[in-house]
Amino acid sequence: MSKQIHLAAHFPGVNNTTVWSDPRSGSQIEFASFERLARTAERAKFDFFFLAEGLRLREQNGLIYDLDVVGRPDTFTVLAALAAVTDRLGLTGTINSTFNEPYEVARQFASLDQLSGGRAGWNVVTSWDAFTGENFRRGGFLRQDDRYTRAERFLRTAWELFDSWRDGDVVADRASGTFLSRPDAGAFAHRDAHFDIAGRFNVPRGPQGRPVILQAGDSDKGREFAAATADAIFSRHGTLEAGQAFYADVKGRLARYGRTREELLVLPAATFVLGDTDADAQERARVVRRQQVSGQTAIRHLEQLWNRDLSAYDPDGPLPEVDPVVGENTIAKGRASTRMFGDPLRTARQWRELAAANKLTIRELVIEVTARQTFIGSAATVAESINDLVQRDASDGFILVPHLVPDGLDEFADTVVPLLQQRGVFRAEYQGTTLREHLGLAHPDRRPAA
Ligand SMILES: Cc1cc2nc3c(=O)[nH]c(=O)nc-3n(C[C@H](O)[C@H](O)[C@H](O)COP(=O)(O)O)c2cc1C
Repeated sequence: MSKQIHLAAHFPGVNNTTVWSDPRSGSQIEFASFERLARTAERAKFDFFFLAEGLRLREQNGLIYDLDVVGRPDTFTVLAALAAVTDRLGLTGTINSTFNEPYEVARQFASLDQLSGGRAGWNVVTSWDAFTGENFRRGGFLRQDDRYTRAERFLRTAWELFDSWRDGDVVADRASGTFLSRPDAGAFAHRDAHFDIAGRFNVPRGPQGRPVILQAGDSDKGREFAAATADAIFSRHGTLEAGQAFYADVKGRLARYGRTREELLVLPAATFVLGDTDADAQERARVVRRQQVSGQTAIRHLEQLWNRDLSAYDPDGPLPEVDPVVGENTIAKGRASTRMFGDPLRTARQWRELAAANKLTIRELVIEVTARQTFIGSAATVAESINDLVQRDASDGFILVPHLVPDGLDEFADTVVPLLQQRGVFRAEYQGTTLREHLGLAHPDRRPAA
């Protein structure tokens, strides 16, 4: 039997794929934009809506990196507002375990689960840079190595809080005057090296028991954390080969924790450009790539590798002859890309060779070496590719990142989704009411304890 595909809509926000210069591009902050994208996702029967998190604006050369779309409203506020205008769509937010406290976060998710009727999802991230931490009272207080230890304790503490209430604790029996069925509802006491807390948790259990847990770290520790605790993993491995390798790796870790392969879904991020024909889509994709990599963006991107101010260079000219500055990146703070350049001198050499062989300018080179769209083609081609990747175990579905807000998902909803539904690999109607049900995950009370 074919696997069922899971789909989510990522509100693009601060992201290097977001095109803000297009005349059709709307606000990244006004509620109407969130509402529009969420309603489209729900109309298309998507599993969930997804918000990433950035706790500090990125900077480059000591200035705000204003070519990123600026602004990232608070996750819980946005998701709570969306709960009121949607009915079935899962509402998933990225919340950091390094800079928050378990009681506070558990309370926020329990509240969201209650008021959305069981649709809350939590993408637990740790963050890796001290730069982000400077915004908080403890600064970048945890070494990267310790962050997953804290994340694991954080999550298990939050679970204790969710589990301090059982279904049926609130009886509110008017005849007998009994409100709670047991006196110790909500009682908790937790002590470990990171958290020492005790008291009463003040939000009774939501319909899902615990929110759905997503995890997005890619390191060995991140993958292990996902295998031990998460219901789904958000990855950046969306192609067949890389996807299959990642899928096999994380699913292979589950048995160690007494879990089955179905208990952790693999959902890579994916971008897409559609067209009436494949050729038309390719042409549109070329235009989108040029919108995503403006001349200024190309220079800034090059600076992230070179670790130097390159503002005097012409984006339509050749690559710099000077070499990158090796060592701590002082130019581009808070950017994940700087972590990926393992050996800047070698990468610069490869880029120069590529540019020379194909006569590429700086801008053309950056377009070439930065991620292109995952799916490009007619609706039929894209539906086929998505299904193929899922059936061949490169993923269990995708978290789609449109490049335009608020209507960047419309064409996908109108043309690709019906084709997946016709094939019987994507739901035509929601079968359940909770996010857990959409994802085919058991209620925590009805599965073996981790
Ligand atoms: C696909 C993907 C999406 C991510 N989204 C976010 C995010 O929105 N906010 C955030 O703070 N970190 C995000 N991260 C960072 C990770 O959660 C994690 O904190 C970081 O990658 C360090 O862990 P690692 O060394 O295991 O990768 C993302 C990572 C991946 C792979």
